[in-house]
Amino acid sequence: MKDFQGKVAFITGGGSGAGFGQAQILSEAGCKVVLADIRQDHLDQAMAHFRDTGADARAIRMDITDREDYRKAADQVEAWYGTCPDILVMTAGVNAFGPAEASTFEDYDWIIGVNLFGVINGFVTFVPRMLQAGKRGHIAVTGSLGGLSGGPTTAPYSASKAAVINLCESYYEALKPYGIGVTCFCPGNMNTNIHEATMTRPASLMNTGYYESPESIEMYRRHNVLGMDIREVGQRLKKAMEDEIVICIPYDGPDKMCADILQDTVDYCTVEGIRRKEARDASGDKNNSQDAAELKSLADARAAGFATAKKELGWVDGSKKL
Ligand code: NAI
Repeated sequence: MKDFQGKVAFITGGGSGAGFGQAQILSEAGCKVVLADIRQDHLDQAMAHFRDTGADARAIRMDITDREDYRKAADQVEAWYGTCPDILVMTAGVNAFGPAEASTFEDYDWIIGVNLFGVINGFVTFVPRMLQAGKRGHIAVTGSLGGLSGGPTTAPYSASKAAVINLCESYYEALKPYGIGVTCFCPGNMNTNIHEATMTRPASLMNTGYYESPESIEMYRRHNVLGMDIREVGQRLKKAMEDEIVICIPYDGPDKMCADILQDTVDYCTVEGIRRKEARDASGDKNNSQDAAELKSLADARAAGFATAKKELGWVDGSKKL
């Protein structure tokens, strides 16, 4: 996709963080942007920015896990612009971290509900409309580097993002013949408001196995601040859309980074490989995008309880580990 002028871009999570950065860059490239978000305060802040720039931007408050919300949003876009979107950017997402063995059904239902089913709902709502309208557009989904491998404290999140990467490959193959590109954007740490994710967690899914306190959230925020700036996020995504990149790892040497991370998966297939992986872990040789300052801030956050289990879970016990 090279020409963004006059195109309608529908952006979930467009009120904050990565989605807001993507909306800014697409708007500056000439798109009419529709921001879809569950948080009215995020939408209000983002719309204030677009009022200042005089750009064509509109907001829809919706929950991406609600299929009826999605249908109404799609109808609203057609009522406003007389057409469905040319560009669908699905960036809304949430996270919560803690030991896999502490995870509750509600942790899975919330994280996978938003990060995976929220994206499925977008594909199922918009793809038929885009094909019906003969669009030659683009669909971008925000996955994560965390979707390329599992980890002891990232189970629901990594599972949701792995599924999203896989889903994008399927839709890429399916939609290519129609002239619609698909990109899965897979960043590491970004400077966003993701540390506030629990604020949108539904009351019915509040039961978590993970520890959370104002201090642990604050330490995670300090870690996020060191991540990629949201305008760079938007620029990296736009370039990936222009280049029709299917899995965008927004760092130098993305193919090597991907291969290094996937080496864990390859190594899990053989006895020798498992030994190699254990040796890598013991030497602290992690294949990720984080620099020393980010690794330190993550360690500080862990010391404040980030990504640990709720204290009252008797079975999550370091002293029982081999
Ligand atoms: P953010 O919290 O700043 O933005 C996410 C937006 O999604 C928020 O405005 C939130 O209100 C909205 N949202 C949450 N649940 C929703 C729902 N059910 N329906 C509609 N909107 C909803 O966080 P960020 O970091 O910009 O997150 C964007 C994406 O980036 C997410 O998918 C996240 O998993 C992914 N990501 C974030 C990383 C980071 O370090 N911040 C790293 C890798 C991936």
